[in-house]
Amino acid sequence: MSVILSGNEIKKQILVELKDEVDHLIEKNIKPSLSVILAGGDPASEIYVSSKIRTCQEIGIQSVARKLPQSVSQQELLEVVGELNRDPSVHGILCQVPLPEQCQEEEVLEAIDPLKDVDCFHPFNVGLLATGNPRFMPCTPYGILQILKRSGILTKGKNVVVLGRSNIVGRPLSILISQKGWDATVTLCHSKTENIEEVCSRADILIAAIGISKFIKREHVKKDAVIIDVGMNRIIDPTHPKGKRLTGDVDFEAVKDKVSAITPVPGGVGPMTIAMLMLNTINAARISNDLPLFQL
Ligand SMILES: NC(=O)c1ccc[n+]([C@@H]2O[C@H](COP(=O)([O-])OP(=O)(O)OC[C@H]3O[C@@H](n4cnc5c(N)ncnc54)[C@H](OP(=O)(O)O)[C@@H]3O)[C@@H](O)[C@H]2O)c1
Repeated sequence: MSVILSGNEIKKQILVELKDEVDHLIEKNIKPSLSVILAGGDPASEIYVSSKIRTCQEIGIQSVARKLPQSVSQQELLEVVGELNRDPSVHGILCQVPLPEQCQEEEVLEAIDPLKDVDCFHPFNVGLLATGNPRFMPCTPYGILQILKRSGILTKGKNVVVLGRSNIVGRPLSILISQKGWDATVTLCHSKTENIEEVCSRADILIAAIGISKFIKREHVKKDAVIIDVGMNRIIDPTHPKGKRLTGDVDFEAVKDKVSAITPVPGGVGPMTIAMLMLNTINAARISNDLPLFQL
């Protein structure tokens, strides 16, 4: 029987620890706060933002959603970022992507004060991460590491294959998991990788983040491997009450009895991303008060 790695359960444990830390900060008159910029009305973004705001409320973090119209200009967006940068009561800032097409994502993300950059997208923070001295942790990669750590899955010396080289998931994860302490031997695959099936089938730990529903089949995984499925693909399913549902990048049903552990979709990596955002917001509040980082 393989172990189903429940991100929902691990998130619950972590939120208890984080709520404790928020309570300690409030005793010191520090009220951690997060501002989320939502430009336009992308339905998936609206769901993500309300879920982030709800989790903030659950653990006592103050949160504000700044909703801007679909027609917002780059200049207006940059002005909002500047205003939040200058506001000392705002500790963490994130700008939900994708942005409306007239806005340039890179310039907006780089305009966020690196000390408030709770998504860890700013090149300054990415540089700190790459040199082994991270300030904030990229939320999805660090959430994955917490699933592994808290499930007792060792990465030291293991052959880890990461599918996908995005700046949000695959690339930072491959950097983190190969660093001292995690000590994995990493292969990072992408759309130009040759013999990808064969590379995957040698993985002790396979992490799929490419955005193709059920890309990883039974024959692509090694017996007793650990599978982390980051994919969140919305597919049409007339048998589902909503007419569509979420699937991962891994064919869960086909591989689940071959592997030693696997994350489900939904309920695996997704919830962890939000938990790590809470950690980063707490750390942004600690940084602005000259306190050392809180570690999980
Ligand atoms: N659970 C969460 O919290 C969370 C967070 C973020 C993302 N996600 C999900 O994770 C998935 C990936 O998102 P992302 O933003 O990291 O990725 P992305 O920016 O869409 O990039 C996809 C990556 O997959 C690679 N790729 C595409 N087709 C491939 C193929 N046939 N074989 C091998 N590699 C291939 C691409 O290679 P090239 O670089 O060569 O184009 C690229 O590196 C999506 O389903 C997304 O919704 C989930």
